[in-house]
Amino acid sequence: MGSQTETLNDALMEAASHVMSDDSMDTLARRSFSPRKIDMFNRNYSTLTSRAEFQFIKNMEAERLLPGIINNPVQEVMGADAIGADGEANFHKQRNVGVVFSGGPAPGGHNVIAGLYDEIKRYNGDSRIFGFLQGPDGLLESRYIEITGKLVDRYRNLGGFTMIKTGRTKIDSGEKMEKALVTCKGLNLDALVIIGGDDSNTNAAFLAQHFKSSGIKVIGIPKTIDGDIQVQTDDGQTLCAVSFGFHSAARAFARNISNLSNDGSSDVKYWHVCRVMGRVASHLTLESALQTHVNLALIGEELADYVNQDRLDKAEKNGEVDYNAYGITLRHLSRVICDIIVRRAAYGKNYGVMIIPEGILEFINEIQVFIIKLNKIIAEYNKIHDIDFHHSFPNLSGKLDYLRRIAQGMIDTTSEFPIWNMRDDELFNQLPNFFKEGLLVERDGHGNFQFSQVETERIIMGMVREYLDVLKEQGVYKIGIKRSDYVTFMSAARMDAEMFAPALFKNPQDEYVLVKPEIISMKTLKAALVNDGMIDAQEALPQALVEIFKKSEPDFKIQTHFYGYDGRGSDPTYFDCNYAYNLGLTAFHLIAGNATGQMAAILNLEQDFENWIPIGIPIARLMHLEERKGKLDLVIEKSIVDLESNAFKVFQAFRENWVAADAKPDRFRNSGPVQFAGDNEEDRPLMLKLNALT
Ligand code: FBP
Repeated sequence: MGSQTETLNDALMEAASHVMSDDSMDTLARRSFSPRKIDMFNRNYSTLTSRAEFQFIKNMEAERLLPGIINNPVQEVMGADAIGADGEANFHKQRNVGVVFSGGPAPGGHNVIAGLYDEIKRYNGDSRIFGFLQGPDGLLESRYIEITGKLVDRYRNLGGFTMIKTGRTKIDSGEKMEKALVTCKGLNLDALVIIGGDDSNTNAAFLAQHFKSSGIKVIGIPKTIDGDIQVQTDDGQTLCAVSFGFHSAARAFARNISNLSNDGSSDVKYWHVCRVMGRVASHLTLESALQTHVNLALIGEELADYVNQDRLDKAEKNGEVDYNAYGITLRHLSRVICDIIVRRAAYGKNYGVMIIPEGILEFINEIQVFIIKLNKIIAEYNKIHDIDFHHSFPNLSGKLDYLRRIAQGMIDTTSEFPIWNMRDDELFNQLPNFFKEGLLVERDGHGNFQFSQVETERIIMGMVREYLDVLKEQGVYKIGIKRSDYVTFMSAARMDAEMFAPALFKNPQDEYVLVKPEIISMKTLKAALVNDGMIDAQEALPQALVEIFKKSEPDFKIQTHFYGYDGRGSDPTYFDCNYAYNLGLTAFHLIAGNATGQMAAILNLEQDFENWIPIGIPIARLMHLEERKGKLDLVIEKSIVDLESNAFKVFQAFRENWVAADAKPDRFRNSGPVQFAGDNEEDRPLMLKLNALT
């Protein structure tokens, strides 16, 4: 076979290469798009003003470990036309700044660099930006590139972290911090900007402390699609409503989910089960649900709060307390899902769309206990032996054998209580192998459980399927038939619809009729008809009634989808283009104002763009102690879905309507494509819009 080029003449080749350019029209348009600038950035200079009204409680451990930055105030970047000769000279001085991406990609990252680049060059064309390659490893190993105007222009308003790549290495030892310092000193850096999530901003705080005496400043940028960096003061004032990247990822997921709603409500035969990213918090699921109005969306944080009142009442009657009544079990969760499937089926809708958050297991007690125990066992093994647990036991059988030996007391652990007992071992072994493997998966560099590696929906839907079979046997799960269709069908078969209806259906006069629960087979169908005197015992079943019965029998079919990497690689929305670009501008002004250990943020994101205000938030004040790799570590506290927020309450108020277990059409909402400009583009996440309502 000849190569493509041999078969095309020159003119055609030339024309085709335009059509086939690597850069689509959208990419070209994105590159030339200029994000909006917060008005104060059009002023000549800025000053940093402390905003003492924003207060946080000090964590004692943070005070001990981060003394050089713990007393930082919240600072507002305020525009100024003149700031005195010294101040102005400081703004215009030649600077070297390093930048690094850390953690998973999030749409808008390139715009942070673009904002930083444009601002640094605005004040001094000789200033330089160095990008460390592949995340913190680049910083530790001194692998970097100089970021040029050409490079920045190539990636403006485009997704991914392709420009300098990213990585997940944690800078968690004095030795690593020293290495990072040597790299920064070698490049004569004035400042280092770390674009990352909660763990990466934790790194930023420790580096700021370590670099303090060198004069090199460290600024963090709140990045993560998970949306779990949200900052509120002690009295509940929101300083950072969401991280950049969240909106784009949620919109990308919502777009795909909307497409499934279109498909599902067309061929009406599948339940589409969508697992949506978000390591722990369910923010992405909540926003996707608000965008798409799917029939069912589970919010992990709500499940954690679940109380089984029946169990509690029963225990109370016996003068006992049933601690198992608190928190939902996988079994109970499968019942909740089945209830919705059955209710929709009763209106002829044996299809639908549901969202399961990636981190749901974190909120299911029985599984969370396994995760915590296994974290501890793995961490302890790694500490005692000179080789990693996963290296020692590459296969599931080896891991299970090790756990069994702990349960049998054949291995000494340092824990005061038996960390893994025979009961744990027995329950764990009842799980399917793929799920056991998932729970034993290697923790990431920061000690986080890697939820993205576990096919949670498989275990949940397996249980759902089992219980639906039971409900089918009980005659509870049936497909409702539109009464008018039944009448048409019967008259085509020359049979008396009205006469047979009471024998067949439990609700013969309703708009959707349901075959009686006791009719679950041809045998029981015949028995019902004979009992009601519709046919004689010797007579064959009329074919039309056999057909009606078959129509009422559900076949539960699912298609599973995982929305994660696709969305976090999406191009940024208009909101994220603007937000991330202004974070880059803010980072420069914090550096120029001599700040360190601060996270750049934008106040009033939940309001219109005109109200946005650039600020610096003291990272050390966001820290708390958390279990990581089996021990307590000082890290930034993740923000999970607030069940008291407007966004959640609105979801709660609307969700029964979205189940659409009624005779009306589904309420699916098409959220539209991710856009970076245009009048149709929404200006911020729905969660933020709702939370801003009073
Ligand atoms: P960050 O916290 O680094 O932003 O990453 C979040 C995330 O996208 C989660 O939603 C997901 O669980 C995880 O990264 C997947 O990580 P990995 O890239 O290591 O598979």
